Amino acid sequence: MNVRIVGTGSAVPKLRVTNDDLSRLMDTSDEWIKSRTGIESRHLAVEETTTGMAAEAAGKALQEAGMTAEELELIVAATATPDRFLPNLACEVQSALGAKNAVAFDVSAACSGFLFSMNTADMYLKNGFCKNALIIGAETLSKIMDWNDRSTCVLFGDGAGAAVLRAEETDSTEAQPEGILSTVLGTDGARGMVLRCDNRPVNNPYVQNDTALSYVSMNGQEVYKFAVKTVPKVIEAAVEKAGLAVDKIDLFLLHQANYRIIEAVAKRLHQPMEKFPTNLQEYGNISAASVPILLDNVKNHGMIKKGGKIVLAGFGAGLTWGASVLRW
Ligand code: COA
Repeated sequence: MNVRIVGTGSAVPKLRVTNDDLSRLMDTSDEWIKSRTGIESRHLAVEETTTGMAAEAAGKALQEAGMTAEELELIVAATATPDRFLPNLACEVQSALGAKNAVAFDVSAACSGFLFSMNTADMYLKNGFCKNALIIGAETLSKIMDWNDRSTCVLFGDGAGAAVLRAEETDSTEAQPEGILSTVLGTDGARGMVLRCDNRPVNNPYVQNDTALSYVSMNGQEVYKFAVKTVPKVIEAAVEKAGLAVDKIDLFLLHQANYRIIEAVAKRLHQPMEKFPTNLQEYGNISAASVPILLDNVKNHGMIKKGGKIVLAGFGAGLTWGASVLRW
C-alpha cells in the first residue's frame, strides 16, 4: 500500500510584523533577531483563528487533491493552540468544511505535531481503516506568547498548513514504492520543562486559586543544543529505514525554528544548504504549521519533482522529534 500526499495548502494571517515593527514595541532590534535566528518577520492573527486558517489551508489541499469535503474519511489536526478546549480543532475543521463523513481528532506534539499527525494517518491508511485523510498543522501561537519576554515572543508566528493523504494499492511491477516510505519519531518527557506553557490551574470549590495565566517560557540554549544533536540523528534513522542514503535525498524540509539550527543540521549531515529551503525569514516559527506551510510553498515553487525524495522533520516541546522520508 502506498500512502501519498495528493494535495497541500496553507494560510497565514494578513498582518505581517517585521523585526523593526517589534523594535518599536520592545527593546529588540532587527540585527539581534536576524543574526541569531534568520527571522525577518512573522504573520500575527488579528481576526484570524486557528480553525479559520486550518480550514482555509485544508480547502486548498482538498481542491488540489480533486476531492470534495464529503469524501474525506479522516481528519487529524496537530495544534498546541486550538481555539477551544472543546470541541477539538479537527472537529471544528470538519464542521467548517462540511466533511460530515470524516472521523476527526487532534494530536498534541508541539512543533513535531505535523510529523506525528502524518504518521498517525499513515498507520490508519496502511491498516485499511480508511482510504484518505486530511492532516493539519495549525497554530495561533501569538495568544500564548508573553509579549513582555523579548527572548521568546520575537521567534514565533501564526498560520496553518494542510495535506491530503491517499492510500493506493501498490503496483507489483512498480520499481520503487512512492509516498511515505518511512517515519521515525521520538520523545523525551524528562527534558520537557525547557519549553513549556502551563495549562489553567486547578480551580474548583475546594481550591482557592488566583494563579495568573501561563505563557510560553523557554531555555533557548538548551532547546538549541537538543535540536542540533537530535535532528540529524532522526533524519539519518528515517533515511536508513527507507533503505536510502542521505546523499540521495533531494530536499530536507525542516521545522522552521532557527536558520542556525538548520545550518548546523545540514553541516552534520554533510549536505549543502541548497537542499534545505526555508521560509522562516517571512513567517518565523509556527510550531506544528511550519513543516506543512514549507511543504506547500516549496511544492508551489515547482521545487519537488515527480519521484523526488524528500525528508520532513520536526522537533520541539515535549521534547518531541520526528522525521519522514517520502518519494513524491
Ligand atoms: N532582542 C535583543 N536582545 C535580546 C533578545 C531580543 N529579542 N532576547 C534576548 N536578548 C538578550 C538577552 O537578554 C541576553 O542579554 P544579556 O547577555 O545582557 O543577558 C542576550 O540577548 C543573549 O541572550 P541569549 O539567550 O544568550 O541568546 P542566544 O544567543 O542563546 O540566542 C535564542 C537566543 C533564543 C535565539 C537561541 O537560544 C535559540 O534560537 N534557541 C533555540 C530556540 C528555538 O528555536 N526554540 C523553538 C524550538 S521548536
